[in-house]
Amino acid sequence: MSPSFDQAALAALVEVALAAADGAPTLAELNEIASGLKAKDAPLVLIRRSLGQIDDLEERKVVGQQVSSAFDALGRAIDDRRTSLEAEARIARLEADRLDLTEVILADVTVPLRRGHTHLVTQTRAALEEVFIAMGFEVAEGPEVETDWYNFEALNIPPGHPARDMYDTMYLELGTPETVLLRTHTSPTQIHLLEKAVAEGSLPVHAVMPGRCYRLDTPDARHLPVFHQIEGLVVDRDVTFGDLAGVIETFTAAYFGSDIHARLRPAYFPFTEPSAEFEITCTICRGDGCRTCSRTGWIELGGCGMVDPAVFEAVGVDPTIWSGFAFGFGIDRCAQMRHGIADMRALIENDLRFVRQF
Ligand code: DAH
Repeated sequence: MSPSFDQAALAALVEVALAAADGAPTLAELNEIASGLKAKDAPLVLIRRSLGQIDDLEERKVVGQQVSSAFDALGRAIDDRRTSLEAEARIARLEADRLDLTEVILADVTVPLRRGHTHLVTQTRAALEEVFIAMGFEVAEGPEVETDWYNFEALNIPPGHPARDMYDTMYLELGTPETVLLRTHTSPTQIHLLEKAVAEGSLPVHAVMPGRCYRLDTPDARHLPVFHQIEGLVVDRDVTFGDLAGVIETFTAAYFGSDIHARLRPAYFPFTEPSAEFEITCTICRGDGCRTCSRTGWIELGGCGMVDPAVFEAVGVDPTIWSGFAFGFGIDRCAQMRHGIADMRALIENDLRFVRQF
């Protein structure tokens, strides 16, 4: 006859062990409890070892299952406690590592606090947009990373075309060499806009497209390698060169003041025909002639012209129905001209004595 197994003693043992695991105050103590439970002389281990002494097979099986589920329950309790102790430790660590990033400005009541403001180039962009919005243009944007097709080919500048020399291009190391680039002008946005208008059947288009452009130029008084342009595009029925000249003159007077005028001089751009460079009265000398304008009284601002049929063909616009004009000029140059900034590099130096003037 085997001694009958003491169920109550097992239950009490498990209860005590569970309470110990649940209440372990530290990870070290929990680990101690965990190894104690598996020690050779641990009560549960002893019970498991004595299972063989139970003669009744059925009872041995039942007790065996109870013992192993007691082990399982204790294992889970220990794991749960470990998880929550580790979480507490992590929170304590984070609290201890917390950095105070609030800036303490020691108030000097005699000096009012200075607030930051948008950069002059951003202000200029917004002012230009406003002038064009008032003239009925929409504002659109295009990507700064372009493919060769958008930046050149669709604009009637095929590979090897001499006009590519005007644009010292920064290429990205992506895909086939020299196929992905940082746009050298905002003109590729014309292509995106026309493609969309053709796809949606939403011509006409009257839009300006401001944005950042890139060229491998060394910064100097009149050039920055990262600069801003605003592009204009009107595609409608019966658009003429006269409309273009009118828009340029209206914009010039609205933005620079009524004593500043625009003039167009014949030029060449592959994506417009005829093409023109547009110049404005020198804002430094108001047209009298000075060093900045090389004594001509005029300053070049950008290019323009009637959209070349090759561009319409590239995007599938029917030239028997639609005609258009386009223009593009430098936003930074506008800021320079309007505010008489001798050296454009001041725009990127972030010298507060300069920045705060605008
Ligand atoms: N994309 C030209 C450049 O950056 C400027 C330009 C000229 C834009 C003529 C035009 C245009 O839209 O019609 O040099």
